[in-house]
Amino acid sequence: MAVQTTPQQASEVPEGGFSGAALRADFPMYEVPTRSGKRLVFLDAAASAPKPRVVIDAIAETYAHHYANVHRGIYELSEDATSRFEGARQAVARFINAPSEREVVFVRNATEAINLVAYSWGRTNVGEGDRVVTTQLEHHANIVPWQQLCAEVGATLEYVAITDDGRLDMDDLRAKLEPREGRPPRLLAVAGVSNALGTINPVREIVRMAHDAGALALVDAAQSAPHMPVDVADIGCDFLAISGHKMLGPSGIGALWGRRELLEAMPPFMTGGSMIIRVSLEGAEWNSVPHKFEAGTPAIAEAIGWGAAIGYLENLGMERVREHERYLFTHAWEALSAIPGLRLLGPADPEIHAGVISMVMDEIHPHDVATIFDAEGVAVRAGHHCAQPVMLRYDIPATTRASFYVYNDLDDVEALAGAVRSARRVFGVGG
Ligand SMILES: Cc1ncc(COP(=O)(O)O)c(C=O)c1O
Repeated sequence: MAVQTTPQQASEVPEGGFSGAALRADFPMYEVPTRSGKRLVFLDAAASAPKPRVVIDAIAETYAHHYANVHRGIYELSEDATSRFEGARQAVARFINAPSEREVVFVRNATEAINLVAYSWGRTNVGEGDRVVTTQLEHHANIVPWQQLCAEVGATLEYVAITDDGRLDMDDLRAKLEPREGRPPRLLAVAGVSNALGTINPVREIVRMAHDAGALALVDAAQSAPHMPVDVADIGCDFLAISGHKMLGPSGIGALWGRRELLEAMPPFMTGGSMIIRVSLEGAEWNSVPHKFEAGTPAIAEAIGWGAAIGYLENLGMERVREHERYLFTHAWEALSAIPGLRLLGPADPEIHAGVISMVMDEIHPHDVATIFDAEGVAVRAGHHCAQPVMLRYDIPATTRASFYVYNDLDDVEALAGAVRSARRVFGVGG
């Protein structure tokens, strides 16, 4: 796929980057008219990203010509489907620089990946009196499974505090990692990027701190892997969770990456077909990893579609994707900061803020803001973003969140700022 830049768009393209406007042609979603009749300005990738045609085609093509169950048949179609499905696993492994594709477990989404660790690793490695540490800026997916685990085994869950500008409080992290009665926490679970604040956490440093303290480290990369290079070898973590649907792939497919020796030692999460090598009336013997964790028929076409999404992103280059979003963020932050009565959450520094901007408008509820935005063709998310502890921290019920991706450009930034001004006019709180 060639990324074309026309001369008119040149001013919208960061040096060495690509044109978001040109990429929109790859996304059939943009062909659907909005009910307002306005141009669609899609700013909700953080919830779920649109799908480029290559992904839709890969899914359709799988169902049309390459579909059979995987790992089971010894006929041509099944072998074909299996090799495409396993090719997708290799693509995921390559994308996160996993040492081996056997460390990539297909699951439904990041939520399931984290639950897998909490149930399988957690129930065998965390016990009474132990501690698990997470942070206050996590998505519920990286909080509730640990709450459940700790409640069940009699462990304690602790949360690293966040600063007024939405960064993790590193002194508090250090304190939380200190041993208590000679015991370090068992695990530190942290997001690469906060979906509610946009903060990019220094995961490499955090993982090193966790390891130095004697804890394992899980990184929730649901919001980082789609938008910047994510390299498990470089981060040094023990587990990493990702969702396909947030990185241009289909919903219903995600992955847990885990260090091989940890996965080998963990008991299965779910049991049944495919995850065994032998079953008798007395019991069963587990398959090798990753299959031990993949009970039942997997999401075959979805995995293959995700492989196509990864190919699309690799073609753009993840460094360039990050650069593109940093560019849009910088312009958006500047434009929005100039609007009176608008509070922006998260750090102002573009080096540690991803392409996600959460805002609160004095006197106007985020749902009303989003409704007015919709009338302008601007699609954003309003709510607590499954991060209620973040809302509690800043004493707000919800935010309006705009999130950028590869198909956005400076016109979208301008439309966002224009929609904020419209909302303020409609509610009579200034222009
Ligand atoms: C940071 C983060 N973690 C985890 C999740 C859960 O992802 P999924 O719903 O795909 O399981 C999300 C989804 O918004 C997220 O933003």
